[in-house]
Amino acid sequence: MAGPDAIERAVEALRAGELVAVPTETVYGLAADASDAAAVRRVFVVKRRPADHPLIVHVADADRLGDWAARVPASAQRLAATCWPGPLTLLLERRPEVLDVVTGGRSTVGVRVPAHPMALELLRRFGGGLAAPSANRFGMVSPTTAAHVREDLGDDVAVILDGGACPIGVESTIVDCTTDPPQLLRPGAITAEQIADLLGGDVAGPSGASRAPGMLASHYAPRARVELVGSSGEAATLAAAETAHGRRVEVVDPGGDLAAYARGLYGWLRAADERGADVVVAVLPPAAGLGHAIRDRLLKAAAPRAR
Ligand code: TXA
Ligand code: MG
Repeated sequence: MAGPDAIERAVEALRAGELVAVPTETVYGLAADASDAAAVRRVFVVKRRPADHPLIVHVADADRLGDWAARVPASAQRLAATCWPGPLTLLLERRPEVLDVVTGGRSTVGVRVPAHPMALELLRRFGGGLAAPSANRFGMVSPTTAAHVREDLGDDVAVILDGGACPIGVESTIVDCTTDPPQLLRPGAITAEQIADLLGGDVAGPSGASRAPGMLASHYAPRARVELVGSSGEAATLAAAETAHGRRVEVVDPGGDLAAYARGLYGWLRAADERGADVVVAVLPPAAGLGHAIRDRLLKAAAPRAR
């Protein structure tokens, strides 16, 4: 659905404890009222997501941060002021009222202000926070169009807001601001270099036990096996070898435009599955800027799978 009526219907659905798929600048989210435990529990059921995987709370603007976070250190204030609305999630100490079902029982809460006009309009009219993971079944690639959401979740969602294709295409950068220096837990369109610049100092890599469960080795995976290579030449060689073994192969090799790579990636992986590919051969982008986020998702798509 699109248009002002669609947003009104979405607000009503959320108030009734139902789920709404909402476009953001990164990927589509599956939103529930973050203060309604039953609604948030439905998100886990619909996604088939393990209960200990916390959700990001989406809010309309940085002024709402105090509703969710017990303390907002200077680092977080600076990042919020500069990057929001935008593809950045901040982990902060949670207020005691924040539901355990949202935080996975952790002492922290993830918060972000998405930079998408439809998401912002929904958040403003709804008023509260929306707990929203990506609107895919657990472990699969995130949806970047309303059609992807419909294919994955269909009737399990009361309203699917159609805001077109997501302009960024990979999930938000996650920064844990409860540590000093802050830690980058998931790379995204806001890069480690940008964050270090904004903080005038260090940003560390993740340490300790898998801090954000999106950091599980295998995640974001299509059905097809994913093979990673370093160059177009290697991709052609490997594709020929796989084809010679009778396998259906698709090559992901979009060239040097990293923004186009990120925007297209999940759609290409889905399309490969739809066409019945056995193997996807993807050329890794350079490890710089947005390339880090693309490599991270590709490495997870290529990781050995339990299922
Ligand atoms: O771009 C995005 O962030 C999208 C859009 C919809 O906003 N959302 C998204 O949500 O990617 P999800 O649930 O697919 O990924 C959120 C990640 C998960 O790995 C989750 O474990 C982590 O954030 N996370 C959320 N809250 C956390 C917390 N309190 N502590 C540790 N990790 C947390
Ligand atoms: Mg996800």
